[in-house]
Amino acid sequence: MASTSPEAAAAVADPPSVAWASAFADDAPRIDVPVPGPKSLEMYERCKAREFGYFQWVDMAPVGFVSGAGVTLDDCDGNRFIDITHGHMGASLGHANPEVITAVEGQIRRVMHLRNNPNDVRAELMEKLAEITPGDLNRFAFYSSGTEAAEGAMRVARAITGGHEFISFYGDYHGRTTGAMSTAWGNIMSGPRLGGFHTFPNAWCHRCEFGLEPETCGLHCVDYLERAIQSNSHGALAGIIAEPITNGSGARVFPPGYLRGLRDIADRTGALLIFDEHATGLGRTGAMWAGDHEGVVPDVIFFGKTLGNGYPITVVACREEYHEKLYTDGQSSTHGGQPVACAAALASVDIILRDNLTAHCASTGAACLAFMNGIVERHPAVDVAQGRGMQLAFEFVDPVTGEPSPDVATAVFKACVARGVWPSVVHTTIRVSPMMVTSERIALKIMELVEEAIADVERNL
Ligand SMILES: Cc1ncc(COP(=O)(O)O)c(C=O)c1O
Repeated sequence: MASTSPEAAAAVADPPSVAWASAFADDAPRIDVPVPGPKSLEMYERCKAREFGYFQWVDMAPVGFVSGAGVTLDDCDGNRFIDITHGHMGASLGHANPEVITAVEGQIRRVMHLRNNPNDVRAELMEKLAEITPGDLNRFAFYSSGTEAAEGAMRVARAITGGHEFISFYGDYHGRTTGAMSTAWGNIMSGPRLGGFHTFPNAWCHRCEFGLEPETCGLHCVDYLERAIQSNSHGALAGIIAEPITNGSGARVFPPGYLRGLRDIADRTGALLIFDEHATGLGRTGAMWAGDHEGVVPDVIFFGKTLGNGYPITVVACREEYHEKLYTDGQSSTHGGQPVACAAALASVDIILRDNLTAHCASTGAACLAFMNGIVERHPAVDVAQGRGMQLAFEFVDPVTGEPSPDVATAVFKACVARGVWPSVVHTTIRVSPMMVTSERIALKIMELVEEAIADVERNL
């Protein structure tokens, strides 16, 4: 029998979507023109002249993109990047994924836009989702963005409980409409948040808000939360909204028992437990849902980043038994769940299930995290490697003071971009989450490049 190299063996073992998407990275990254190149800057200025508002990553690295293929993204100056942001965890199955394109093209030619009307792809998608959503979360409403879905989830909680108060957590992010912003960590509103919204520390043990150690604290934050609810609530609690693994603060994973603690508090208070799985859902963390790692089933979830592979579609899924009470609640939106979005979603879910990308994310993510923990050992500016599956991030400190450092994180982000790896940055953290269709070989190559970028930054500190 002819012998095969380990690389060839790994390539053979990769599922079809992984083999397809990762092949584009064989000769990437390829930076021929220093980033940002002149054409990028010109494109940036044209956009900047017409947009209001600032977007952190864009203003830090004004690169104009023109096309993408698999795990790569090409800028208008001819550079090729390996994309580990993919929009923002949207194009998880690869840019220009041919199976999603075929589904979208076919549906555009049949019927592109309807308003909630019954149609075949909508029905098929809901039937498929019911097979994979946790517990009996088998009733659905469709939207186009995460923040709308967050609002929709909160409306479910208000309708079911009759309450209007919400508990949310430091480090989580649920979007930029008024209700979602009222759940935020820090004040991201131009003014006060809505009444009845309370934000508390969660179990981020690496920098415990209570200065305790996980081995001995007995999940003090959960006890504290229950007391804090008692002293802040007017008895009108509607929901506890949480990211089971955070995207808002990178990729924080909580200790065993924490999510169960939230479930118990929700049960005791009558609040609904809402999990925001917008980023983590559909397999990215190595389980179909991040809550599955702890066996915790919430009352409502919302998700969507990966669902249409970047084509806008988000879902609120809630318990079967709420159906009658919600019937007249009127969850609906003009573009939510339109047929083309449903077709993109169906194709995406089919790929995830056919290629068992959940298992792929679990094994490739574990290999990445092991490498990342080595990076933590080797580099004093890296405080911690976070994450599970392909939801991964590094948190940075000033190596002299040991204090969390947005400046170091920003410098590492820029150094990655200069080397042709495109991560995302949030405060003191950069997310280094490869697309779900990244092979282990390419994922480890990404981590090596990120380490080189970190070393560059450390040399200049
Ligand atoms: C976990 C999470 N929830 C909600 C949102 C808001 O989603 P959108 O930007 O689609 O409104 C985001 C966006 O990044 C997110 O990461």
